[in-house]
Amino acid sequence: MTRPVAIVTGAARGIGAAIVLRLAQDGHDVALVDLSRDACDDAVAAARDCGVQARAFAADVSSETDVRRMVAEVEGELGAPFVLVNNAGILRDRTIANLSVADWSAVIDVNLKAAFLTCREIFPIMRREGGGRIVNLSSTAALGTYGEANYSAAKAGVIGLTRTLAIEGGRHGITANAVAPGFVVTDMTREVAQRSGVKFDEMVAQMTRETVVGRVGEPADIAHAVAFFADLRSSYVTGQTMYVAGAPRG
Ligand code: NAI
Repeated sequence: MTRPVAIVTGAARGIGAAIVLRLAQDGHDVALVDLSRDACDDAVAAARDCGVQARAFAADVSSETDVRRMVAEVEGELGAPFVLVNNAGILRDRTIANLSVADWSAVIDVNLKAAFLTCREIFPIMRREGGGRIVNLSSTAALGTYGEANYSAAKAGVIGLTRTLAIEGGRHGITANAVAPGFVVTDMTREVAQRSGVKFDEMVAQMTRETVVGRVGEPADIAHAVAFFADLRSSYVTGQTMYVAGAPRG
């Protein structure tokens, strides 16, 4: 029995590492993609402990050359990918009058252009193999967030890209869905707290009050949603955006 191969970008830490672990637990061989291979060591080891193959690949997913090389390497070393999870993301928060073109472009490139680049590379492979599962990370920020014009635009763009991939992929057995997390405890949100001079515990307490379910998200909550879309049996679910946010108030 060959195991399905999954590519996860931004796999070294946080939500990406949790997705790797969950897909490994569900019986996928996993290609972990991040800026540095060494940064993936812990996540690779955790996946291997599940009895699957796991390998790290270094790539800047906003680079066309890197993405092309990475996809070829993954196919050569692990086999044709059945699952692609576009999870890599960055923030460069500024209010609109203070938002530089560099900060606009960096965020659009990593959160949105990268998903286009990986999908463009992998779509022909999935078509050739008779199908696949694409899962793209959006965010509740797609609905608009103070100080995040670049990130909100990128994450809204991810939803449009995903729906289009679903339409183009349907007849080829390729599904495309988006997962839109609310506040999740990761280094990304810790860094937001640090930059805004707020204690992380206080930020978590405030986000807990603002969430109907009375808690904030953990990376495993997001991985659970990704795993559903990635499943072979989810072939009738496509073009969807699943908000995994505990129902924010207001
Ligand atoms: P994180 O900052 O903890 O991890 C992101 C990973 O992506 C890092 O390992 C980083 O090295 C990698 N990465 C960044 N730029 C890259 C590039 N150009 N090429 C390859 N890898 C790159 O982030 P976190 O919190 O785990 O978020 C994961 C995804 O979930 C992101 O797309 C983020 O926008 C999204 N998200 C996160 C939320 C949260 O509350 N943490 C909420 C909503 C969405």
